[in-house]
Amino acid sequence: MAFDLDMIKKVYGNFGTRIDAARKSVGKPLTLTEKILYAHLWDTSATQAYQRGVDYVDFAPDRVAMQDATAQMALLQFMQAGRPQVAVPSTVHCDHLIQAKVGAEADLNTAKDVNKEVYDFLASVSDKYGIGFWKPGAGIIHQVVLENYSFPGGMMIGTDSHTPNAGGLGMIAIGVGGADACDVMAGLAWELKFPKLIGVKLTGKLSGWASAKDVILKVAGVLTVKGGTGAIVEYFGEGARSLSATGKGTICNMGAEIGATTSIFGYDEKSEIYLRGTKRGDIADMANEIKAHLTGDDEVYANPELYFDQVIEINLSELEPHINGPFTPDLAWPISKFAAAVKENGWPAKLDVGLIGSCTNSSYEDISRAASLAQQAVDKNLIAQSEFTITPGSEMVRYTVERDGFLATFGQMGGVVLANACGPCIGQWARHGAEKQEKNSIITSFNRNFAKRADGNPNTHSFVASPEIVTAMAIAGDLTFNPLVDTITNSKGEQVKLDEPTGWEMPVKGFDVKDAGYQAPAEDGSKVNVIVDPKSARLQLLEPFAAWEGTDLKGLKLLIKAKGKCTTDHISMAGPWLKFRGHLDNISNNMLIGAINFANDTADTVKNQLTGEYGPVPATQRAYKAAGIGSVVVGDENYGEGSSREHAAMEPRFLGVRAIIVKSFARIHETNLKKQGMLGLTFANPADYDKIQEDDTFDILGLNSFTPGKPLTVILNHKDGSTDSFEVNHTYNEQQIKWFQEGAALNIIRKNMAN
Ligand code: F3S
Repeated sequence: MAFDLDMIKKVYGNFGTRIDAARKSVGKPLTLTEKILYAHLWDTSATQAYQRGVDYVDFAPDRVAMQDATAQMALLQFMQAGRPQVAVPSTVHCDHLIQAKVGAEADLNTAKDVNKEVYDFLASVSDKYGIGFWKPGAGIIHQVVLENYSFPGGMMIGTDSHTPNAGGLGMIAIGVGGADACDVMAGLAWELKFPKLIGVKLTGKLSGWASAKDVILKVAGVLTVKGGTGAIVEYFGEGARSLSATGKGTICNMGAEIGATTSIFGYDEKSEIYLRGTKRGDIADMANEIKAHLTGDDEVYANPELYFDQVIEINLSELEPHINGPFTPDLAWPISKFAAAVKENGWPAKLDVGLIGSCTNSSYEDISRAASLAQQAVDKNLIAQSEFTITPGSEMVRYTVERDGFLATFGQMGGVVLANACGPCIGQWARHGAEKQEKNSIITSFNRNFAKRADGNPNTHSFVASPEIVTAMAIAGDLTFNPLVDTITNSKGEQVKLDEPTGWEMPVKGFDVKDAGYQAPAEDGSKVNVIVDPKSARLQLLEPFAAWEGTDLKGLKLLIKAKGKCTTDHISMAGPWLKFRGHLDNISNNMLIGAINFANDTADTVKNQLTGEYGPVPATQRAYKAAGIGSVVVGDENYGEGSSREHAAMEPRFLGVRAIIVKSFARIHETNLKKQGMLGLTFANPADYDKIQEDDTFDILGLNSFTPGKPLTVILNHKDGSTDSFEVNHTYNEQQIKWFQEGAALNIIRKNMAN
């Protein structure tokens, strides 16, 4: 970890000067979020004040973390950059591909077998390029990052939407797509729209059944799933300082559920306790020296309305435990009102399964508090009425809670310990009977509860609550049970009541682990071979995309004119296709299969202009490619909205589509297209969309004088011999035009590395 210490020293060394400069340019006291963002500007000489929600700004994150599903394409692309090592400290975490079925050991062994080629690839590529590799079984990315890599005042990106978990330790941590991770590892700047700021003032102190999870369940109810979009949520106040670092992590993790860019807490005593407890006292010492820079300015917190775009206040002393759901995490119910809601809405009151743990809630504190209830169940002759599973977030936590007897207590209550992995949290749950699609209820301490997310059954009513409430509910087996006031009948026929949960913020005997599951990269990676089986269906090394031929593009066939919504999911579907994420050729067989063809109002049926026959979009495009003919995809408004999945840009590029012409783009997808060397153009007059006919051939003119701000011209050659022409706009800057000319952004990096 010496590398990290040097990096952190460097970050902290510049903090004071950069924050002073930022305060001057902004002209007022700064929030913590602004301090960290301004301290991580790519252009360190910039003296501009950025407009929140408006300006796009280049940043220099300190670190990158990737989970195994998204890391595959990110690393395959990174290999194209020609760098001997990653430009910033990076890690890979094998957590998403382990399916929960029987229990920890058996499930882990099956996963190692089934995913061997993927794990071998990730391990070898990590070894070669200086990336820390966390093996399957080591834990869930966000928990491992919190324990090992998060640091106050830092900035990281991670290829998973719950990356903000690290905000619990004062880090700006943002979830991104693989293309962004690749760029930062390759040494490029990372761009973000300067966020709006939401301040959450926490007063009072939690007690009894209430926990940190209830803070975010309450916030989700207030802000809803969209309320945090484009914003960073900054928590402050005496209440914030009273929460454990891992509790803060839970709150930041679930900030993703309100659409927030990320969430953050300032550095305080609790952060120091966690840093020292996770054997990072040296970082705590360094942080203590610059403490004032690691929280917002006093004036900001004294008058938050003046400095945040929105302020919410929550009194922790009055906070009731919450249960959110079903089907959406912002349907928030204080526990006192939940039983009535269950009855009124006709949700199944019988609770089938309670699941605790996951990246969201598997700290020592969480597990110990849940175990205190399990112990009561045993002591009070209660038998858990629901199935109950425990997903530890890391091997370190698992080892420690086993040592301290908590796992044995759960076992006595009938609990099953699953592998240290995502499992049911990401739908990797082979739940027995789920295929029958029966209406049923489950309750989890996870973060998301959308239909089908946990077990694929659309009729599973999934509720989210704290591990304490989940455990109590699993003991009662009944969603109308309120552990704060109700009693349960035990095996002797007595009425018993559960006492309030108790636990420890940190293990009294300290954390321990035998094998954390970490593999350090080779000192000299130059001799390491990256392992990819050429016959693999799941992995394929990438070939660089060809440079622009230097001429206008003529004779391009219309592949599809997509009608209405066309998200990245329509362009590159998820679900069963996820297993091909590391194999561009195979995953390209899902290209645009969800898009609706304007000509026949159907998905995945387009006319092959060479044969006149209708067929699937990918097969039709492959026919054009085989004939050496380029094509054009036409789209409607906000084309490419949704997740930042880079496959949605890579697949058309790979299969030979030359241009995407739309009424408007979702910005991330537009940038992804540019990075892959694709032409992303918009109709100067959106009504020209209507001119495009099913049998059209396109010429795109003006590429020899392709310049920022200058429109290009499209000639449409219709089947009847008539033509139409119109202008198309673009947003390419000088640099992005070079990406197009060279064939891809990575081609330029590789060229520069070679020189
Ligand atoms: Fe994400 Fe849950 Fe894993 S939200 S990282 S899937 S444990």
